[in-house]
Amino acid sequence: MSAVVIVGAQWGDEGKGKIVDIYMESAEVVVRYAGGPNAGHTLVVGNEKLVVRLLPSGILRPATQCILGQGMVVDPSVLLGEIDELKRRGHKDIEARLLLSDRAHLILPYHIEIDSLRESTAAQAEAIGTTKKGIGPCYEDKVRRTGVRTGELRDLSKLKKRIDIALRAWAPVIAALGGKQPSADEIIEQLRPMAERLVPLLGNASKATDDAIRAHKRVMLEGAQGTLLDVDHGTYPFVTSSSAVAGGAAIGAGIGPNRIDSVLGITKAYTTRVGSGPFPTELNDELGKHLRDVGDEYGSVTRRPRRCGWLDIPGLRYAARVNGIDGLALTKLDVLTGMSKIKVCVAYDTPQGRVDDLPIDLLDEPDNAVPVYVELDGWTENLENVRVLEQLPETTRTYIRFVEELSGVPLYLVSVGPSRAATIVLHNPFVGRAGTP
Ligand code: GDP
Ligand code: IMO
Ligand code: MG
Repeated sequence: MSAVVIVGAQWGDEGKGKIVDIYMESAEVVVRYAGGPNAGHTLVVGNEKLVVRLLPSGILRPATQCILGQGMVVDPSVLLGEIDELKRRGHKDIEARLLLSDRAHLILPYHIEIDSLRESTAAQAEAIGTTKKGIGPCYEDKVRRTGVRTGELRDLSKLKKRIDIALRAWAPVIAALGGKQPSADEIIEQLRPMAERLVPLLGNASKATDDAIRAHKRVMLEGAQGTLLDVDHGTYPFVTSSSAVAGGAAIGAGIGPNRIDSVLGITKAYTTRVGSGPFPTELNDELGKHLRDVGDEYGSVTRRPRRCGWLDIPGLRYAARVNGIDGLALTKLDVLTGMSKIKVCVAYDTPQGRVDDLPIDLLDEPDNAVPVYVELDGWTENLENVRVLEQLPETTRTYIRFVEELSGVPLYLVSVGPSRAATIVLHNPFVGRAGTP
């Protein structure tokens, strides 16, 4: 049995897509367990670049079985668009390799409308900076028990009754936001042709995942977003609406927690965040702009500029704890090339004294959580062609050893460029230990 969870250790966009794709060379099944088309996971293979939003990042590995778990929220038109795009690129067998949980929730047009209206009418300090993909309202419907599930696409007359119930619940909200009341009939007519294509993909994702694990297949559980965007463990209320952490994998994939063997956390060599909310190590200066330019830090989905800052070790320790991270993948190390000095936040000064765990509930008052930095020497060498740790400059090795020691988590992988090739794999959680720095 072998099931590995991949989870973002920061505020998303850590490079999860690339790392899932790398380790899928050794696995047969990949399951997305949370979130929806708010995610954008980038895969660069040779000259091909693909950003997947709902499809699992293992999709480019031939013969991989791809499962969309019940923890997800699925926009049917986005999913069909991704399927068509992959077919255009020659992956003709994609539907045969895809299983869509019939218990995942459907994002419908009114979810997107409410998300957008709320964001555009909120006071500036209250806007979350969401991706406006309908994520929040869809999960709200799920928890309020007025949601609509993919399995209901099998019977559109029953589905219409469910949409009517949801629309009655949303009507006062839509009116208060100045929106137009949606028509259930129109939504059903939009869904009809999509349902024809999606119903054959529906199935029991929980059973398929558990069966694969019992059959000794190697299963990757792919997280979306990141620990600090998790609805329970993130910088609430500036979070997404799903359980992005590793614990969410058991719920979202529909397997027991004891089926999971290992948790891999992904972190950039620095930090980024898209949207609003606290970010204590943010650089609002030329250095931040430099990181954004060199790291091409623009949202994969919305192209919004990402906020950039130094690496936050207390944040990594926090992520290690709430996810049970066994190993770390450190990405975008190449982006730091050319900086003469690199700072790393190692602790926080708080009214209670200096702490080395992330004081997450103090972060909204900057004076209550002041980052304490250590400054390390940088390097000038281009790292993109380095394939073994020994070829990295001495100061680069010092940097990654520092991250490993202070975070308390062994490094499993170092990424030095966007492509599959630009990777130093130290340990593969599927096939046993291959060395440490
Ligand atoms: P995800 O959401 O965690 O999958 O990450 P995204 O795909 O949204 O953002 C990561 C971005 O960094 C993508 O553009 C990747 O192609 C790119 N990337 C991943 N690893 C590296 C790396 O080691 N170096 C550089 N320069 N880019 C990387
Ligand atoms: P991946 O999987 C980065 C952020 C949004 C916003 C907050 C809530 O690519 O790492 P939502 O639309 O989910 O209600 O927005 O969460 N956010 C992400 N930031 N990467 C993501 O996904 C994100 N998904 C949501 O910017 O701040
Ligand atoms: Mg992303």
